[in-house]
Amino acid sequence: MSDPLVALLHGPNLDMLGRRPSAHYGAITLPELEARVRDWGAERGMRVSCFQTNHEGAFIEHVHGLAGAIDGAVVNPGAWTHYQWSIRDAMELLDAPFVEVHLSDVEAREPHRRVSVVRDLAAAAVWGKGPEGYREALDVLVGLVR
Ligand code: DQA
Repeated sequence: MSDPLVALLHGPNLDMLGRRPSAHYGAITLPELEARVRDWGAERGMRVSCFQTNHEGAFIEHVHGLAGAIDGAVVNPGAWTHYQWSIRDAMELLDAPFVEVHLSDVEAREPHRRVSVVRDLAAAAVWGKGPEGYREALDVLVGLVR
């Protein structure tokens, strides 16, 4: 049997990491973050496939295509987290556990960032730990997919 497959999904503006406010997001770029998560996955015996889009429909259709194809997911839906019910509906179709991750401390920022429309679907949520949060998410998934 092949190693479990984890989808790493990023929503809008996360392709701009490295140019976004460093106080919240640090200096890491998305390709660097994806490489790090791939390495952390490999250390845990998991394959990681990466996807980012700024387009709601593209994200939804990508998630539709993942049904039955992955063992878990690490998802940072960006601003969609806080209001986008169609993203929630798509995540509901994912027949694999996922962990919601935010680089910044969404609980300590503007009030609208404290709301997550996907939180109750997620196996766990990690925020405010920068890239390390993704490692923590993989540790949660290791326990669920093995
Ligand atoms: C974010 C937090 C969101 O509030 C914001 O809209 C983002 C990134 C984070 O990783 O901290 O785009 O999800």
